[in-house]
Amino acid sequence: MSKYWKEILIGAVFAVIFFLGQFGYNVWPVIVVLGAGVFLYNFMPGKDIAGAKVGVGKNTVQTINFYDIGGQEVAKRELKEALDFALEKEKTKILGIRPLKGILLSGPPGTGKTLLAKAAANYTGSAFLHASGSEFVEVYAGVGAKRVRDIFEKARNLARQNKKGAVIFIDEIEVLCGARGRHASHLEYDQTLNQLLVEMDGIGSQEQILVLGATNRIDILDPAILRPGRFDRIVRVDLPDREGRFHILQIHTKGKPLADDVDLQELARQCYGFSGAHIESLVNEAAINAHRRNEDIITWQDFADAQEKVLLGEKLDSRPPEEEINRVAIHELGHAVMSELVKAKSVASVTIVPRGQALGFVRQAPLEDKYLYTKEELLGQIRVALAGAFSEELIFGSMSTGSQNDFYQASRLAKKMVLSGLSHLGVVSEEIGQNELNYEIMRIINNEGIMVRERLQRFKRFIKETATIIRQEERLEGDVFRKILGEYVELLEKEDEVAAESELLILAC
Ligand SMILES: Nc1ncnc2c1ncn2[C@@H]1O[C@H](COP(=O)(O)OP(=O)(O)OP(=O)(O)O)[C@@H](O)[C@H]1O
Ligand SMILES: [Mg+2]
Repeated sequence: MSKYWKEILIGAVFAVIFFLGQFGYNVWPVIVVLGAGVFLYNFMPGKDIAGAKVGVGKNTVQTINFYDIGGQEVAKRELKEALDFALEKEKTKILGIRPLKGILLSGPPGTGKTLLAKAAANYTGSAFLHASGSEFVEVYAGVGAKRVRDIFEKARNLARQNKKGAVIFIDEIEVLCGARGRHASHLEYDQTLNQLLVEMDGIGSQEQILVLGATNRIDILDPAILRPGRFDRIVRVDLPDREGRFHILQIHTKGKPLADDVDLQELARQCYGFSGAHIESLVNEAAINAHRRNEDIITWQDFADAQEKVLLGEKLDSRPPEEEINRVAIHELGHAVMSELVKAKSVASVTIVPRGQALGFVRQAPLEDKYLYTKEELLGQIRVALAGAFSEELIFGSMSTGSQNDFYQASRLAKKMVLSGLSHLGVVSEEIGQNELNYEIMRIINNEGIMVRERLQRFKRFIKETATIIRQEERLEGDVFRKILGEYVELLEKEDEVAAESELLILAC
């Protein structure tokens, strides 16, 4: 019904009620019934059962392109290929390739899954129906299944109309496709999933429809949805590697005024473990920092501050007492010294500005991305984790509660060592007894602790002196820290030489 007809009808209903009232009829029952009708029509969550338009699966025009997405080269290639197969049947005919029905994008949050799906729609110029898993789920039985039927129906119609096919993108698909039987209270979820399975089976070889799903919980999906013939390809969209991070940085800094000291390659190295969403936020926070300084150019320092903000949160207003700040400085310097001893050039910055849960922080940036760790590397990380507490012990004679998280990290690493067969126990089964496991973890940590205590001894003076500097500066960049450390090590070596010479002299006498 057109908009005008609706308005004329509403006006007529009001006029009839008014005149009936004028002639002395009791109009209240009519008003109550009409009111209830309007309420039900507009506010019932299951209104699509009543025949109103279905809200799930908006047909949107996308402006994102594949080259707006940094890294993820494998995911892009797989996706493009599947789109070519699914939507351009001619290409597949020669070799008799069966077009792919579905592709599942799986990976950690913020890595660009939704972006990839949007770019996919743009790539082919096909219709793009976008829905989120939660939109299908309703308390009313049967609504979810009906919505699934409707979205596929809509896609078929659009594909017929535009002759370029349709992509159905279901984001956060784990809500819809969780393993069946998990929801004991009602079978609505299972029904919705069953309907999706049926619809995907029903995609005919002549239909140009591709289902894209995105999830960061592939582990809880029902195996039936993952089998080939439904989601034919499962594409990992992982955290970007160094090149990927560099590419994403380039995309998000494009058109922004960057100072000459901003080195995106170095920034990409330092942003180890960041997702695309982290990097986008990093660039945005850096620009906000520049704005706060009333500058119209973004400097390296803005990026350095932004990195800590993205990782740990905003600076806290409350300032701890001087005594505690001193302890935090000593603690963080312990970590930093050990980090450089374990792996040169690994410290990106040392700071004692309280942010989020942390009173201070040493940011480490590996020289290259790592996917495997050797025993020595794990032991090195354990030493770095323990060094904060032992540095406090070295200077103040006691530790504090600030090391709880460090000890947790150290025991987590030690446990990883034991379960990977890298400890004295050799290869162990996963069912190793808790006591035995704990004993081995404590043995590793205590051994490393002894070594850390010994190695920090030589740096007692350095830690004390540098704590004064860091208390003034609040933060030291990795290069500055290394310069001060290098000078101290040179001094130590000279002192050692002098001591050795005088020992020789004594012996000669
Ligand atoms: N590879 C990338 N290239 C460029 N920008 C990216 C990339 N990955 C993420 N981003 C940025 O992060 C934002 C969030 O990305 P997106 O929504 O695609 O993540 P997602 O993988 O779908 O996350 P979730 O699993 O939480 O839904 C994007 O809007 C974009 O700004
Ligand atoms: Mg997403």
